[in-house]
Amino acid sequence: MRFGVWVSVALCLAVCQVAASTYDNEGRMVPTPEELDIMLPENKRRTLQETLLEARWAEDVKSALTRRWNPSGSYGPSNVACPALPEGSNYQGYIRNALNNELGPQEQDYLTRHRNQTRSGWQDWLSRAQLDGNGGIDGGVEQFLSQHQPVVGFAVSGGGYRAMLHGMGVAQGFDGRNDTANQRGVGGLLQLADYFAGLSGGSWCTGSMAINNWATAQDMLAYLNLEQNLVLPEDGKTKLYIDLFRDTDDKKDAGYPTAITDFWGRALSYHLLNRSTFPNEGQATTFSDIVNATNFKNAAYPFPIALAIGRQPSEVMINPNATYFEWNPYEFGSWQPNFEAFVPTGYVGSDLNNGEVASKDKTCVAGFENFGFVVGSSSTLFNAAYLQLLNSNSTKISSEIIKSILSDLSNEKNDVAAVPNPFKGYAPNGDGNNNHFLTSDYVDLVDGGEANQNIPFEPLIQKARDVDLILAVDGSGDTSNWPNGSSLVETEKRMNLSMFSSLKFPRVPDMNTFVNQGLNTRPTFFGCQAQGTNVNNTPPIVAYMPSYPYSYFSNKSTYQLEYKTSDAQSFVDNSVDVATMGGKMDDWHTCLACAIVQRGLLRTNKAFPEKCQTCYTKYCWNGEYNTTTPGNYTPPIGLPEFITSNGSVLTEPPVTGSNESSGSAVDSFFGDGAASLSEGVPRTLALAALTTVTAAFALL
Ligand SMILES: *[C@@H]1O[C@H](CO)[C@@H](O)[C@H](O)[C@H]1NC(C)=O
Ligand SMILES: *[C@@H]1O[C@H](CO)[C@@H](O)[C@H](O)[C@H]1NC(C)=O
Ligand SMILES: *[C@@H]1O[C@H](CO)[C@@H](O)[C@H](O)[C@H]1NC(C)=O
Ligand SMILES: *[C@@H]1O[C@H](CO)[C@@H](O)[C@H](O)[C@H]1NC(C)=O
Ligand SMILES: *[C@@H]1O[C@H](CO)[C@@H](O)[C@H](O)[C@H]1NC(C)=O
Ligand SMILES: *[C@@H]1O[C@H](CO)[C@@H](O)[C@H](O)[C@H]1NC(C)=O
Ligand SMILES: *[C@@H]1O[C@H](CO)[C@@H](O)[C@H](O)[C@H]1NC(C)=O
Ligand SMILES: *[C@@H]1O[C@H](CO)[C@@H](O)[C@H](O)[C@H]1NC(C)=O
Ligand SMILES: *[C@@H]1O[C@H](CO)[C@@H](O)[C@H](O)[C@H]1NC(C)=O
Ligand SMILES: *[C@@H]1O[C@H](CO)[C@@H](O)[C@H](O)[C@H]1NC(C)=O
Ligand SMILES: *[C@@H]1O[C@H](CO)[C@@H](O)[C@H](O)[C@H]1NC(C)=O
Ligand SMILES: *[C@@H]1O[C@H](CO)[C@@H](O)[C@H](O)[C@H]1NC(C)=O
Repeated sequence: MRFGVWVSVALCLAVCQVAASTYDNEGRMVPTPEELDIMLPENKRRTLQETLLEARWAEDVKSALTRRWNPSGSYGPSNVACPALPEGSNYQGYIRNALNNELGPQEQDYLTRHRNQTRSGWQDWLSRAQLDGNGGIDGGVEQFLSQHQPVVGFAVSGGGYRAMLHGMGVAQGFDGRNDTANQRGVGGLLQLADYFAGLSGGSWCTGSMAINNWATAQDMLAYLNLEQNLVLPEDGKTKLYIDLFRDTDDKKDAGYPTAITDFWGRALSYHLLNRSTFPNEGQATTFSDIVNATNFKNAAYPFPIALAIGRQPSEVMINPNATYFEWNPYEFGSWQPNFEAFVPTGYVGSDLNNGEVASKDKTCVAGFENFGFVVGSSSTLFNAAYLQLLNSNSTKISSEIIKSILSDLSNEKNDVAAVPNPFKGYAPNGDGNNNHFLTSDYVDLVDGGEANQNIPFEPLIQKARDVDLILAVDGSGDTSNWPNGSSLVETEKRMNLSMFSSLKFPRVPDMNTFVNQGLNTRPTFFGCQAQGTNVNNTPPIVAYMPSYPYSYFSNKSTYQLEYKTSDAQSFVDNSVDVATMGGKMDDWHTCLACAIVQRGLLRTNKAFPEKCQTCYTKYCWNGEYNTTTPGNYTPPIGLPEFITSNGSVLTEPPVTGSNESSGSAVDSFFGDGAASLSEGVPRTLALAALTTVTAAFALL
């Protein structure tokens, strides 16, 4: 019955709608009414509801005439012959047991090839940073590199399009193809880096760059089509929803649960994939298709990773010890201590038990890990918001319509991305207690930011990857939609738990100190002081790169789903300034290089060069606290005081006299024409449409 199964979500919606805070009473993040307005103003929600109705009807008529499901080339996963079983004592069927802290063999091969190529680039980059020769590294850069080549990872935070644009802009500021980046010294680091991880909005950045053959941010702006609202484009909205219904129908017909994540992921694909390269807006494009990009084949760019959280079965609340799952082009799995298991990404969706094929016909499944679904699985935060849009201010009639439309989707799975559990029946070390998903049919993935650890450190602090420095690209919206260090604090909280004692993360101060000392206004290094006697026990250095208004107020709402082209450009340019400190700090390149080599110097028992000592004093957190509750954090446009004072002033920026109020984002993005839209749809029209739909359903 199409009308019967919407009760639990409807209940949630009732709760969600009254909740004024950003969490519902089960601990899930939900948008405030203001945020919902930014996502889609009230007068457009009716249009959204109508569009769904029209599209569902059109799609049902079409599918009633022909059963179109075609196992290949569609969004629906298909059965395929299983690949050869991997060989080696650390495999259980298709599951790679990573308890030995090793990389997957394909990632290892990628890194070996990549690092072989970047050797000469490092030589150049570190020499340009003046670390060669007098006052530089003892014995010179070349000798240093022969002993230890740095390992650098980018970690791009969540925060919707805001975080994506910040990640793109920072990447552009480090991109060796960009003149501004090169003139300001730090260009080329993007190509030298070994990893590029993203979470939620950050995974849109990571995924889009990697699958589009590492397009520059500048070129990406041309295909992202951000002027069109993600959930309600001005052009072709009905076609969008017909496609979404067709795709979810295909997946459902193939026997898989479908949910809002499928809608959301498909809508993302309309933007994140270059339409000229990916047919049908990536309907059949998978995340593992990244391996087919030329720059990936050549191992020319960092290894991309998208991060999500596996919600513990029978729990809704996400705890600090949550199990993170990563998607990389080769493997899907988790580094959670004592679980540490991975399966091939391309075959996720296959029915496995203890790593062995469990389907009756002994086939495997391909095409489950659709590109949009994977980056959507990292950003399920938007599921609740989307449901609220559909249901908000609804009359009894429109809510019935929505129920009828959405009852095709699995109501229990609407706040998650459900992945058929590849780790079912798998007991690492013979101990099932380490696998919280031992008996689950699905791994329910939720937004990587749900544990408030909004920066994807997890994949980069693993011993297997041995990263020396993490560029923590923070576009979080903590206070006035600016970051305030909370992601680092929350990650430290996790790392303080005894189960993670084998992992190392640098000490960071509380959020008040972050704000009072302006540590969130400019690049700050953490972990400089941690010079344990045993380098294996030393955490990576975290180079914190928070968003800041050099030239543009880039603190837009997480829920803003459309940007004018000129705004997106200003945003990216501003984040280029964040990466390059506006080109105003002569020693930025040298000091970043000092942080990058610091771990290698420890490993190779070399003294810290003198100019690095100055850098460490200047850019590292000095270990001091100021836990006073700060005033409102509303920085004005301009250079942070850290720069204007050449690093001598550590202070909270002045409160802005900005003319931008929190409401203006909505006005500037929806002002034009929004008011002229007719107030809602006549009820009779809705009613007539409902009748038509019901009639159409009755035909099936
Ligand atoms: C390493 O790079 C050099 C050229 O820079 C190339 O000749 C060699 O084959 C590469 N080795 C590997 C293992 O890729
Ligand atoms: C998009 O795809 C077309 C066709 O493959 C290509 O010419 C163009 O350069 C691509 N754009 C970007 C930004 O990658
Ligand atoms: C990569 O391309 C080849 C050849 O077009 C194709 O057979 C293969 O399936 C692709 N790999 C993935 C993971 O899509
Ligand atoms: C996290 O900790 C709680 C309570 O300490 C425990 O019940 C739960 O199983 C842990 N979860 C994971 C994924 O380890
Ligand atoms: C519902 O929407 C109408 C028109 O869009 C508006 O006038 C009315 O105030 C809204 N009601 C609620 C409860 O938000
Ligand atoms: C920092 O942001 C968090 C939300 O992420 C907020 O709870 C906290 O109050 C903020 N603290 C400061 C000092 O801005
Ligand atoms: C982590 O542990 C240290 C040492 O016990 C403590 O000082 C610090 O406050 C803890 N951090 C968090 C975020 O709880
Ligand atoms: C601590 O921070 C408060 C608020 O920003 C500031 O007024 C005070 O001067 C700071 N104290 C010190 C010792 O820097
Ligand atoms: C380099 O970055 C600047 C600043 O964002 C941008 O204006 C310019 O177009 C970029 N150049 C290229 C070639 O991408
Ligand atoms: C953005 O930050 C400015 C000050 O830095 C503040 O005045 C404004 O309200 C913020 N906007 C949003 C949408 O949070
Ligand atoms: C800024 O400070 C550094 C040392 O931290 C010094 O070497 C440099 O000359 C100073 N630059 C200016 C313009 O004062
Ligand atoms: C208003 O804000 C813009 C940046 O958004 C700035 O360029 C302009 O100077 C501001 N105007 C006033 C009067 O503060």
